[in-house]
Amino acid sequence: MIRFLLNNELQSISTIDPNTTVLNYLRAEQRRTGTKEGCASGDCGACTVVLAEVENGQLTYRAINSCLTLLPALNGKQLLTVEDLKDGDQLHAVQQAMVDHHGSQCGFCTPGIVMSLFAYQKNASQKPPSVEFNKAEALEALAGNLCRCTGYQPIMNAAKEIRSKHQTDQFDQQKQRTIDSLNNIRPVQCYAISNAHHSVTQPLKTAFSPTTLLELDELLQQHPAAQLLAGGTDLVLDITQKHQSFNTLIYLGGIEALTQINLTTTHIEIGAVVPLSHCHALIAEEYPDFGHLLERFASLQIRNQGTLGGNIANASPVGDTPPALIAAGAVLQLRLAGTRRFLPIDEFFLDYRKTQLAHGEYIEKIIIPRKPKDSIYRVYKLSKRLDDDISAVCAAFHIKITNSQVKSATIAFGGMAAIPKRANHCEQALLNQVWTEATIHQAMDALQQDFSPLSDFRASAEYRTQAARNLLLKCWIESQPTHLLTDKPSHKPSHKPTRVTDYV
Ligand code: FES
Ligand code: FES
Repeated sequence: MIRFLLNNELQSISTIDPNTTVLNYLRAEQRRTGTKEGCASGDCGACTVVLAEVENGQLTYRAINSCLTLLPALNGKQLLTVEDLKDGDQLHAVQQAMVDHHGSQCGFCTPGIVMSLFAYQKNASQKPPSVEFNKAEALEALAGNLCRCTGYQPIMNAAKEIRSKHQTDQFDQQKQRTIDSLNNIRPVQCYAISNAHHSVTQPLKTAFSPTTLLELDELLQQHPAAQLLAGGTDLVLDITQKHQSFNTLIYLGGIEALTQINLTTTHIEIGAVVPLSHCHALIAEEYPDFGHLLERFASLQIRNQGTLGGNIANASPVGDTPPALIAAGAVLQLRLAGTRRFLPIDEFFLDYRKTQLAHGEYIEKIIIPRKPKDSIYRVYKLSKRLDDDISAVCAAFHIKITNSQVKSATIAFGGMAAIPKRANHCEQALLNQVWTEATIHQAMDALQQDFSPLSDFRASAEYRTQAARNLLLKCWIESQPTHLLTDKPSHKPSHKPTRVTDYV
């Protein structure tokens, strides 16, 4: 049985098809039709709802896409939808700001925008009211919400008003009661939900949610064909887009050991199901370019659910984080029936969507070495849109230079092959050479032996090849004391210009 609060009402569910998305549950079971379906693939934000949970004794609010979230992810949390915002006859401050600034026309996208702004307001209210409106913060909150008819300026004006005032609401007044209720339903043992009616044509479908690695190991032995579910932001597309259905799911988000982040003197250790938005700050501190990459990973709603382990395990050739992790020298801690092994991430990918994971084996932890002070680390993502888009090419460079000579080079690309892959010829062309433009041009030529990219709707093979070459040159230019403009400062909140090239 899963238990969660729907606003303030405790919900206990034990019989439902576990392939049900939160969006379909809300609309079909709860008749809460304010939450809309636009794309059912995480691209439009019309389905945005907010999950509140207790962290360090406080409530945190996160906007998520309900179309990509399965019910087990609600366990122990509070689910808030657009219907919950109004207090009696009084619109919520966020709704009122949207009305006052004419932030809605057809209204289809509006519930999702309101919920993103609500999460933005709740998180902003932890900080002092801002005199200076931080446009970047508002853009980050809204980047996952498309509106095709209003235009964004009125919505941004609403965001500005919300941020400049701190208005308390019913959620603030009920805060302690909500925290107590959530603490009471904190999951402490493995649970399962199944569909109520099953037959020859409708097989039994079950989702398990273990709370320990031991329980997970046992479940995997009992159900070797089970599908692991982490954030679900990729897997659920199989349900919503390909109309598949899983008979056995094992949800990993309830296992505390997989949700831990650790910083040691030598490494960052990230549990496989830590959502990307949770590990962003630590990664950005150590590897600023990796941090910028994460800021452009899909949308905030996706980063609030999608996990680092999931982005690796699904082995997409255009997954954002693998090239960055390969360049950083990350190692995966894998676990099979209680036994662990460690594998450098560049050995993990075998072929298109094929990995080294044995049957029943899973990623437990991602171990990233802390960045050596003197190395050059650069990551570049090329996509048609800045936000909420998939890479055409992603390049990551990690170069150590001593006395002008390249002492080590780890270079990885996404979008250039069937897997995220190191550029071995290019690395060899750089190794022990003087870090000059002439060396770079040799390495650019060597790159062509490393990859034979495909043409697809994101980019042609020629574009990918040329772009990969040029990104290496860009990396070199940025390492020089030059005033050439090679990088447009991002609108993203944590982007602090640190390169001379950012200022020109
Ligand atoms: Fe478009 Fe969910 S319906 S993101
Ligand atoms: Fe119409 Fe946003 S109000 S698409």
